[in-house]
Amino acid sequence: MINVLGICGSPVKDSNTEVMMKEALSAVEGEKVKTKIITLNGKKIEDCRHCNWCMIKQSEGSYCALKDDMDEIYARVLDADALLVASPVYIGRLSGHLACVFDRLRCFIHGKFYGSALKHKVGAAMAVGWLRNSGIETTLTTIHWAFLTYQMVIAAPGILATFGGVGVSSLGGTGAFDPKDKHQVLKDEYGLKTARATAKSMVELAKIIKAGKVRV
Ligand SMILES: Cc1cc2nc3c(=O)[nH]c(=O)nc-3n(C[C@H](O)[C@H](O)[C@H](O)COP(=O)(O)O)c2cc1C
Repeated sequence: MINVLGICGSPVKDSNTEVMMKEALSAVEGEKVKTKIITLNGKKIEDCRHCNWCMIKQSEGSYCALKDDMDEIYARVLDADALLVASPVYIGRLSGHLACVFDRLRCFIHGKFYGSALKHKVGAAMAVGWLRNSGIETTLTTIHWAFLTYQMVIAAPGILATFGGVGVSSLGGTGAFDPKDKHQVLKDEYGLKTARATAKSMVELAKIIKAGKVRV
């Protein structure tokens, strides 16, 4: 069984990023793949304070000095074989909400108990921007940078797009919009294809890595 965790970095309820995540995960959900989505909407997550508590006092089930909604995320991230992380484009990079989660995951790099806990898990990235050419790719690379810092292995979608799932939430990524339609990313057929391809490639890689770990 491959456990996939989708982390949706939009603070908005029922966001475009979340609906694109659902489209991507529905392409891989099946007999041997279990998926779960965590959205940052409504979550209270404090900034990492760089207190280094995790390096000295972390123990099993006790991840961080701060006690907030990260506790659920820590447990689900540990349980996952693959993380599909999606962000809205905020000023050409990932959302601050997601950056905060990434900073707090530092305790899975240097933590006394959970050091290197994310090593060789698979990561894949997706981003939704208002415009086709206003930071989607830079957003994806900010997510990739986090994966590399955690020693994760990055999956990419292949011939459709280089970095990951690339959705736009205005019509054709032009800035035109229908005020009655909250989920315009669902009209971005190409973006949804890249999202599904990203999820499929991620699961394929996660299966290879899991099989390799069993044999070694
Ligand atoms: C603070 C902020 C900064 C943004 N910066 C960009 C940007 O640089 N480029 C872009 O294409 N869209 C930008 N947007 C628009 C969002 O990326 C876009 O509306 C996206 O669909 C929001 O995703 P959501 O519906 O999942 O929350 C920005 C939105 C906000 C709130």
